Amino acid sequence: MTRKSVAGLPPLPGEPMSPAGPMSHAARALGCGAALVLLAVLGGCSGGGAATTVNPVTTPPNNTANAYTGPAPGNADVQAFKINLWENIRAANRCGGCHHEGGQSPMFARSDDVNLAYQAALPLVNLVQPDQSTLALKVGSGHNCWVADPSACAATMLVWIQAWIGAGSASTTSVQLVAPPVQAAGGGKQFPADPTAGNPSFQTTVYPLLTKFCIGCHTSSSSTAQQPYFASSNIDEAYAAAQPKMNLASPDQSRFYIRLSQEFHHCWVTPSSGGAPDCPGSSAAMLAAITAFANGIPVTPIDPALVVSNAVTLKQGTVASGGSRYEANLVAKYMFQTGSGSTAYDTSGVTPAADLSLSGNVTWVGGWGIDIGMGGKAQASTSTSSKLAAMIQSSGEYSIEAWVAPANVNQTSAYIVSYSGSNTTRDATLGQDAMQYEGRARSSTTDTNGTPPLITTSTTGAAQAALQHVVLTYDPVNGQRIYVNGVSTGDADPAKGGSLANWDSTFALVLGNETTGQSQWQSVIKFVAIHNRALTQAQIQQNFAAGVGRSTTCCSASARSRACRSRTSCSRRPSTTPTVTSSRSRSSSAWIPRRRRRRTCKSAACASA
Ligand code: HEC
Ligand code: HEC
Repeated sequence: MTRKSVAGLPPLPGEPMSPAGPMSHAARALGCGAALVLLAVLGGCSGGGAATTVNPVTTPPNNTANAYTGPAPGNADVQAFKINLWENIRAANRCGGCHHEGGQSPMFARSDDVNLAYQAALPLVNLVQPDQSTLALKVGSGHNCWVADPSACAATMLVWIQAWIGAGSASTTSVQLVAPPVQAAGGGKQFPADPTAGNPSFQTTVYPLLTKFCIGCHTSSSSTAQQPYFASSNIDEAYAAAQPKMNLASPDQSRFYIRLSQEFHHCWVTPSSGGAPDCPGSSAAMLAAITAFANGIPVTPIDPALVVSNAVTLKQGTVASGGSRYEANLVAKYMFQTGSGSTAYDTSGVTPAADLSLSGNVTWVGGWGIDIGMGGKAQASTSTSSKLAAMIQSSGEYSIEAWVAPANVNQTSAYIVSYSGSNTTRDATLGQDAMQYEGRARSSTTDTNGTPPLITTSTTGAAQAALQHVVLTYDPVNGQRIYVNGVSTGDADPAKGGSLANWDSTFALVLGNETTGQSQWQSVIKFVAIHNRALTQAQIQQNFAAGVGRSTTCCSASARSRACRSRTSCSRRPSTTPTVTSSRSRSSSAWIPRRRRRRTCKSAACASA
C-alpha cells in the first residue's frame, strides 16, 4: 500500500550531504538558519536570541553500516514490521543501542533475526489503540528519545507503528472512541425548595458570607451592581442566583469556591491576614459553608417507578479527542507541540526527519504553534530537505498544507512555506500576497523561480488575518490549485501542469521567509504537512474538519474565554454526579460521542493569546 511504501522508503543519505551539484545556494547565503545545526555544537548561534542547548543525536539511523543479513521475514506482517518500524529503530543510535540481540530485554530491535524481533515487538503494540502502544508510551515518557522532545519521538513512533499495522485510516490523530465506564445511576442531591429549609440551611451557611462580603457588587441595589444577584437582601432572589454557583455533589467544584481559591476574585480580609485580602482563608470559609449546606441535604433516591439504565456524566459524553486526518502520503509534518527550544520537529516518521531550526524572531504560542515575527524563520537542513525532492519527483505531485493565522493582510511576497535556494530559485512555494495566496512551482512549464505564479483572484480576499487552513496542490495536468478552509479558490494555474524533473535537491525547506531572507512572512503557524500527492478536495476537507491544535474541552462561553486567557483547560467542569430526573435522562444508550467543538477554543485569538 502507498503508506507502507512511503514510510518504507530506504533512508536518504545521512549528513553530511554530498550533492552532485554545486554547493547549495541556501547554505552559501545563510547566516544563521541552515547552519544552526552545525553551529549548535559550537555553543549556539550568535545573534539568534537566547543561548540554545545542544541537541542530542538527531542523525538518521545508520542502517547502511550494518545491512541485514539474517533470515528473511517469515510472512507479510513481519515484512511490514521490517520496513515500517524495525528499520527505523534497530540502529545503534536508536533503540538498537540497547534492545539488540543479547542485550536489554525486550529485544524488539535485534538485528540478527527480524522474525525474533517481530515476536518481541508484538506485545509492545496495541492494535486497537496504537497510541497506547508500550513502544510509543515508553519513548514518549522520555525513555531514550533520539531528539530533545519525547512527544516528537512518540508521535514519530506512532506513525511507524501505524504504517506497520496499517491502521486503516492512515491517520495519526484519529478519534479513538472509548466506551465510558459502566456506572449505575444513583440518586442526586436536590436543592431544598426553600432557602430556610435544610439542616443547616442556605440561610445559615452560605448566605451570610455572600451578604457580608459580596454585597458591594452582587445585588441590584449596589451602585456597582453586578449579576448574578446572589447577595441580594431578598433571600429568595439570592438563593435562586446562588444555586448554579454551588455544586452539592462536589462542593470544591462550586464556582463560589473556585472564584476565591483559584481566581482570587474579591477575597476578603480575615482576622489573621493582617488587613490584606486572604484568598486561602476566604475560600476555606466558603468551602466549609457550602460543604455544611450540602451535607445537610439527603440524597434523593431515584423514584422506583422510573426505569433507569447506566449513566454517563456530561463530561464522559463529550470525550472525542481529535479528528481523523488523511496522511497516507506524508513527506514531512510539523505539529509544533514542543513549546520551547529552537527546534520544531518533523514527526512524519519519514526518514530523515527534516527538523526545523528556529532562528531570529520566532516564539512558541500556546495550544501548539509558532509565531514568526520580523526577522524570524524556521528552516531545515539541505540534506534532510532533500527527501522532498526525492519523494515528490518520484510521484510528480505534491500538496503543501498549513494552518496559518496571518498577522496582517498587507504583507506581499511573504512566503509561508518554501522549498528553495534563494529569492530567485525555488522548487515550490506557498506564499501570501496581501489578501491573496500565491503558489510557485518549478516545472517544465515555468522558469526556475516558479514563474508565472498562481495568484488567487478572490475579490473578497482569500487570505484573512484569522486562523485558516490553506492547501496548495500540484498535479501534472492542472498544475497548482489553492484551497482555503476546504474550499477551492477556483483559480486556474496560468502555467498548467508539467514535469518536476528539473527540481533541485540541494534546496532547503523554510517557513516564514526565503532562505536568503527577502520574503518575510509574519504570522502564527500552527501546523504544516507536505504530501507527495495532490490531495483531493475530499481529503482536504477531511483534514480541515479534523482541526488543529491542542484539544481543549470548552465548557461554556465564559469558561472558554477564561481557558483561552490562561492557556489552560477550562477550570469550570460540569457536575460529575448524574442526577436522574426522568427515565430517559443521560442513559448510556443516549451516549453519543460528540465531535469536539474544535473551532471554539482554537480561534486565532485564542492561539495567539
Ligand atoms: C541506553 C539503553 C537503552 C536504549 C537506547 C533504549 N532502551 Fe528501552 N530499556 C532500557 C532498559 C535498561 C530497560 C529496562 C528498564 C526500564 O523499563 O526502563 C528498557 C526497557 C524498555 C521497554 C520495556 C519496558 C516496559 O514497560 O515493558 C520498552 C518498551 C523500551 N525499553 C522501549 C524502548 C524504545 C522504543 C527505545 C528506542 C527509542 C529504547 N527502549 C531504547 C534501555 C534502553
Ligand atoms: C467589586 C465588585 C465585586 C465584588 C465585591 C464581588 N464580585 Fe463577583 N463579580 C464581579 C464582576 C464584575 C463579575 C463579572 C465579571 C467576572 O466574571 O469576573 C463578577 C462575577 C461573579 C461570578 C459569576 C461568574 C462566574 O465565573 O461564575 C461569581 C460566582 C462571583 N462573581 C462571585 C463572587 C463572590 C463569591 C464574591 C464575594 C466573595 C464576589 N463575587 C464579590 C464583581 C464583584
